[in-house]
Amino acid sequence: MTVQQFIGAIDQGTTSTRFVIFDQDGKLLTYHQMEFEQHYRHPGWVEHDPYDILASVDTCIEHAVRKLSLLGYEASSIQCVGITNQRETAVVWDSQTGQPLCPAIVWSDNRTAHTVQELATQKDKTQGINALLPICGLPLTTYFSAVKLKWMIEHEPAVKEAYENNRLQFGTVDTWLIYNLTGGVKNDGVLVTDVTNASRTMLMDIHTLEWSQKAIDFFGFSKLHLAKIVPSSSVYGKIYSGSLQNIPISGCLGDQQSALVGQKCFHVGEAKNTYGTGCFMLFNTGDKPVISKNGLLTTVAYQLGNDKPMYALEGSVAVAGSSIQWLRDNLGIINESKDISTLSEKVKDTAGVYFVTAFSGLFAPYWRDDARGTICGLTQYTKREHIARATLEAVCYQSRAILEAMNKDAGHPLKSLKVDGGVSNSDVCMQIQADVLNIQVHRPQMRETTALGAAIAAGLAMGVWKSVEDLQGVNTEGKTVFESKITDEKREQMYHGWKEAVKRSFGWADV
Ligand code: G3P
Repeated sequence: MTVQQFIGAIDQGTTSTRFVIFDQDGKLLTYHQMEFEQHYRHPGWVEHDPYDILASVDTCIEHAVRKLSLLGYEASSIQCVGITNQRETAVVWDSQTGQPLCPAIVWSDNRTAHTVQELATQKDKTQGINALLPICGLPLTTYFSAVKLKWMIEHEPAVKEAYENNRLQFGTVDTWLIYNLTGGVKNDGVLVTDVTNASRTMLMDIHTLEWSQKAIDFFGFSKLHLAKIVPSSSVYGKIYSGSLQNIPISGCLGDQQSALVGQKCFHVGEAKNTYGTGCFMLFNTGDKPVISKNGLLTTVAYQLGNDKPMYALEGSVAVAGSSIQWLRDNLGIINESKDISTLSEKVKDTAGVYFVTAFSGLFAPYWRDDARGTICGLTQYTKREHIARATLEAVCYQSRAILEAMNKDAGHPLKSLKVDGGVSNSDVCMQIQADVLNIQVHRPQMRETTALGAAIAAGLAMGVWKSVEDLQGVNTEGKTVFESKITDEKREQMYHGWKEAVKRSFGWADV
């Protein structure tokens, strides 16, 4: 009799958390998902309560384990747990009490535009936003954790006090989760962060995979407690309580890197695009970091055990699924997120409407904090169907801008793109994507690839799989391939309109 070896994955995303249980073939046995509260206290601010994040993880684990028992399996059949998480979101707590000192500032929050400006001009003005690019591969923008942390120290009295008293612990969401899941302040919880998450803080040297003293000095963080940087696949500690008590946590990756692993993009030149709250295209560049000349980010893709780290070029789009939620919650154009596809299918095009969904500025490759959401081309003829379709097109056009930058940086054009994430469920959106990119778009049948990546990292550390070669049979069943159905002329005409619309969104924050 073969012993069942299941792997659990905590997928802690921006708007929801899930716990997914896979078997050795990457087949999804069961899962539980829940949304948690987003706090928008001021325009441009996005916050989470760190305790809500923890509670959502506990709830998802308990519900999924119950569902597993209904399938006839015990929690002990789960060999190990991997974690994947929203990246860049900054959490701070008192190192002595373990209590958060203020709400977590979420990656998409852009309150730090002024902090960024100050930092970009503080020392060597010629470097501007690229001051730390050679060290961490990232430009100075509101996106990354260190800038958020600086804001907290300067504006939140409790954070400032803890900092001055050498009690300020900073962590990304992975650190917060692993620390608390392994026992927290009372029971010697483990303080670690994996290389992929650390590579999004602006504080890690992507060449050495260690905290960079230069970067720390740049931000002026002399008294900060930082977690130990560890590989993405390694045993970090055991779960302290609950139904998974004593089960090891042995994998951890930021969610976009996790999707790259889950899509098995292990070779140089392979790329994936995940359409979640935002949209993130990652391109595997191998074991050497490639510094972008075209507005992309250089990031650690994964490090499996003591193997060499692998790197990726990343193009990040701040708004994807969140624009669909906005149509649902703020405009009431749709009742449920999935209705956007039905609505978009009712029209053959947007009738000239473009929607630049720059709610919090534009990320790659534009990097414009001053851009704001802009709808162009409205006429008396425009219907909600056109707006819905223009919302889907917005993410596809931004993906094209990123793909063009990647092709330039990598020197050879990408021929196909693997896709996943909630919005990739939309056939109409994926068809538009293939039309706009003019390359094949491959969508797997089992699309929980972000969670699968964390499960793979955890399973590799525990010997569930011996190496990545062992993963050949994982998640191979069924895929849909989308190919362009429009002419080059039409494609270029559509994209030209988008570029014009983007120009009109610039500077609007300052008007
Ligand atoms: O960098 C932000 C990213 O990690 C968030 O991912 O899936 O929550 O949009 P998602």
